[in-house]
Order: sequence, then structure tokens, then C-alpha cells
Amino acid sequence: MSLASMTAVMCSIIGYIGDKDVAQILIDGLERLEYRGYDSAGIAGLKGDSFTILKRLGRVKNLSDAVEQSMNFGNSGIGHTRWATHGGVSEKNAHPHVSFGGIFTLVHNGVVENYESIKTFLDERGYEFYSDTDTEVLVNLIEYHYRKEQDGGDKFLRSVQKALLHVRGTYGIAVLCKYNICEIVVARKSSPLLIGIGENEMFIASDACAIAAHTKNVVYLNDGELALLTKSDFSITTMKNEKIDAVRCKLDWRMEDVSLGEYEHFMLKEIYEQPLSLANAMRGRFSDDLSTAKFGGLQLSPRELRQIDRIVFCACGTAWHACLVAEYLIERYARIPVEVEYASEFRYRNAPLEKNTLVFIISQSGETLDSFAAMQEAKRKGYMTLAITNVIGSTIARESDGGIYQHSGPEIGVASTKAFTAQLCIVAMLALLLGRLRDMSFDEGTSFVQALVNLPQKISQVLDSGDRIRAIAEKYAHHEHMLFLGRQLMFPIALEGALKLKEISYIHSEGYPAAEMKHGPIALISDKCPCVFLATQSDILQKTISNIQEVRARGARVLVVSSEGNEIPRKCADDLIVIPDTHAALQPILTTIPLQLFAYYIAKARGCEIDKPRNLAKSVTVE
Ligand code: M6R
Repeated sequence: MSLASMTAVMCSIIGYIGDKDVAQILIDGLERLEYRGYDSAGIAGLKGDSFTILKRLGRVKNLSDAVEQSMNFGNSGIGHTRWATHGGVSEKNAHPHVSFGGIFTLVHNGVVENYESIKTFLDERGYEFYSDTDTEVLVNLIEYHYRKEQDGGDKFLRSVQKALLHVRGTYGIAVLCKYNICEIVVARKSSPLLIGIGENEMFIASDACAIAAHTKNVVYLNDGELALLTKSDFSITTMKNEKIDAVRCKLDWRMEDVSLGEYEHFMLKEIYEQPLSLANAMRGRFSDDLSTAKFGGLQLSPRELRQIDRIVFCACGTAWHACLVAEYLIERYARIPVEVEYASEFRYRNAPLEKNTLVFIISQSGETLDSFAAMQEAKRKGYMTLAITNVIGSTIARESDGGIYQHSGPEIGVASTKAFTAQLCIVAMLALLLGRLRDMSFDEGTSFVQALVNLPQKISQVLDSGDRIRAIAEKYAHHEHMLFLGRQLMFPIALEGALKLKEISYIHSEGYPAAEMKHGPIALISDKCPCVFLATQSDILQKTISNIQEVRARGARVLVVSSEGNEIPRKCADDLIVIPDTHAALQPILTTIPLQLFAYYIAKARGCEIDKPRNLAKSVTVE
């Protein structure tokens, strides 16, 4: 089988060793991890000296339905959900993969870049391959080294170490060896992996949510580290077998954070959590005189913050939209020049950066590979890198020079909602902090803080109109195209509204600066392409109304989102959503909420899989 269509994976890993039946623990964990990838799923258990392996295409449900009473997976095992980046979605490509001689089985998250040369090397030594994956090459390389190693001691661990020394690329792996029933070996490079420490049992996961129900005591592996786990102990080494002291952490997650509760979808639950997630983002972050913000994790003194001449923000997707809002706010309130870069472009662009430039990465998961690589590129050039992340202990959080945690709680819905508004809140507070260090007066600062304090209550008010937004959304659900238009601070929110809608409803939607429409997109306008206008800013209301009239004149149905106090002429809007007025810097947050609900209810009306939209995965850990 040719590896021309190599399948790289962006997925999730779970593992267990202890006294319990491993199948149920693995499947429960995979269900919690499914939001990370859901093309196929598989588990392997080790009993005696034989593996029991089960794989199914599609959802974890298909896998759990296939488990039969007669199957005995034993008390140690590994599991995987897969999100394929290249090549086919097939059972043979699903993990776990078994080595040619049947000694090892392995799950892998990442890409083995030099798989071709390794495969040729193994081919020449009689190894045969049954899948199209780079992962199968890796498990066979481990077997090759195992056969060469002297017996005794930590032969299993040594073979994995030796194999990984030859691997170029990224990986989080968990490996079982049929001759070592009491051990699992795991390793990581640029792909998250943590160990959960239980009572006479150990867990492995690529994401804490998979094991939070079992233990709160965890150790995050760092890049280049391996761990050998037994049910009662673990040890960490480098690839060269140097011992590493483990840093134990406590997970601060509650089970209700990762359960649906009364909600039909995580996305809806997370939308309704926003009054709380925003309050959490602000908690303890105002100065005693309530005139500015403070962030303990920035690692920069006021004097150092004053010396910043430029800030570069890098991110992907929704987090990139938060960066655009940061640009408007920091330039407006702190007068510091800001540039916004797609992380995937920045990492290869070799951008010239001036002295005293601060590089900020925004990433909900803290694991997005392009964002991490952009951060590494800035660090390599000697720039200070800070991160705004939600996941404590994530790669970006740990590798940055400092940063700000969002405290949004776990975000399970693939479409980011509460994490985005928390990012907006934090960048608004950053603009306040930087503004107060420069020209913003005490009075401006206190009214900014007061508006932030009032924000959760105003979000609740918007959420109270959920039924009305649902009724409006249902009128738009049959359309196949939609434009979202806004000016200034509302432009990034138009982009975000369009992204939310396309992600979960598959309606083709685009965001534009409202006045740009005349330069091309207006050609799309017809009664088949409704427009959503964001007209919440009173200072530029008349300009936005002119843009609305331009599309009305061409037959488009128009939904306007406006703020209390803004006069929207009746003839301008077929549908109108009015949200509370707030400080100009916080309008992006309030305006986002109805757009999230609008997208959600449209997707629901179209019968879409809202929490796991097709082709998407929660965190993109491959290029
Ligand atoms: O975890 P990150 O914030 O780094 O993720 C970035 C994007 O992949 C993410 O925002 C994506 O665009 C979401 N699906 C948006 O809903």
C-alpha cells in the first residue's frame, strides 16, 4: 500500500491502567473527547499477552454499540478519536495501529514528516503495512528497535525512546507492548498529553476533560518527554533517558462544566454561560480605585508596559477576530500601533518587527499549532510573547513569557462562543490598562470599569430575548447565502457572525466592512441574499443606515442589530433586534450574543449537528 495518501491525524488520545474494566473508561473518555475529532474511533486493551482491538467509522457511539459482552479488554488500554487531514476516512486507517509482528499497538496524534524514509528503511527489512498512515510506520519503528534492544530492564521504554529519536514531526502517543502488561509508555512533541494520577490507577489524555471525572491530580508532559506508567507509579524521562521531575497540578474543573445539563447542545449552554464566564474573566482584575485593569500574569511592570511601541496580535479563526477588536480598541484608547496577523501566515512570513514590539497570541485551546508556531517564531527572534488562553497548562500558555487566562471554563461546542466574548472582554481590559498608562483620564477609566462591571447583567438581558431571536432566525433558515455588515468595531463582529453561521449551518456567509460592500459584494445582493447589519454604534449610525438603504434598494431582506437609543427608520429593517446600550468598547461583546443565537437557531432549524459540525474539530493541532 502506498503512503502517497498519507493520513495525518488531529485527534484525541485516552489511556488507562489500573484494576477496572478498561473498555468503559476508554469509551467514556472518547465521548468527552469527541469534539476534538470524529471521523473514526478505536480502542485497544491488553489482556494476558494479546490485544483486543475495536475500531469503527464515525461517532464514538458506533464504537460503543459494537462492544460485546464477550470481549475482554483487560485492565490497561488506549483509545483514540480521529480527524483526518489527508487521505481517506476508513477503518484500516483508524487507530490504534498494530506493529507487523504484533508486539505493539499505538495511538498517535500528530504527523510523522519523515515517514517515507522510515517506511523505506522498514520495507527493506521485511516489514509490511496494512494502512495508509504515518502512524503505522511509527509503531513498526518501535518494534524494530525493540527487536534490537537487549532484554531486561526498561526495554519497552528504551525502544520507544530510540524510535522517537529518528522521528521528525509532531506526536502525542500512547503505546502498549504485549510483553509488558503492567505498563503504558507515552510521549509528546507539539501535541498535548497529560497524565491523571488516581488511587492505584493512572490515566492518559490529550485533553483534561476526558479524565476530569476520575481525578483532579495531573501532570502535563512537556515537549520531548516520555513517561512510563504503571497503575501505581509513573516516571518521566527525555528521549535520551534523562530523568525529569514531574510537576503536579490540580485541575479546577467541575463535572457540570463538561456535562450538558438541561441544554440540548453545548453551544447553547455555553452561550447562556456568558454572564458567568465574563464575570470570571474580570474577577480580581480591577485596581482598588476601580479606574483601571490589572493582570498578574503579564510579567511586565507599568514602566515596561509604557515602553511598548507596537503590539502584534496573532491567532486563527474566531480568536483572530478577537485580535481585530484588540487592534481597534488598543489603538483608540492607548494610541499604541497594533498589527493583526493570521498565525499561519506570520509563522512563515519572516515579518520585520521593530524593537519594543510585544507579540500577543490569542488561543482558546492554547494548542492551535499555527498559533503556537507563530509564537515560537516571535520567541526565536527574541520578542516578548504573551498569550490569552482559556486552557490552563496548555502548550501556548506554558511556552509564552506571560499571559492572561480567560477563565471561561471548558468550551466543548466546536463553534467558539463564550471563549470569544471572554477574549473580547480581556482585550477591552488590556486597552483600558494600556490607555490608563498613557492618556486616559481617571474619570474615563472609572466609567470604563463601571461599564465592564455592568456587562454580565446586560448580557443576561440579551439572552432573555432568546425566543424572539429564535423566531427571527427561523425566517432566515432557508437561505443559502447571507452577508454580515458592520463598520469599525462591528467589522470583526460581522466576520464572527458570518463564521458562526457558516460553521454550524453550512450557509455560505461572509462578513464585510459595511461601506466596502459597494466595491464588489453588492453584486451578490438580491432577495436570495439577506443582510445582517450591525448598527449598534451611535456615532456612525447614519453612515450605517446609508449602507442599509443601498442593499434595501436592491431587494435584500435586512436584519438589523441595534442598541437602545439608536433610531432605526422603520423602512430600513425587515427585522430588528435591539440590545442594551453600553460603553463603545464593549459593544462588540453585546452585539456578538444575538449573532450566536441567530446562528444556533438557524442551524437547529436546518437540523444540523450543532456541536460537531462536519469537517471541523475543536482544536487544530496540525498545519
Ligand atoms: O483554540 P483556538 O482559539 O486557537 O482556535 C482557533 C480556531 O481554530 C477557532 O477559533 C475556530 O475558528 C472555531 N471553530 C471558531 O468557532
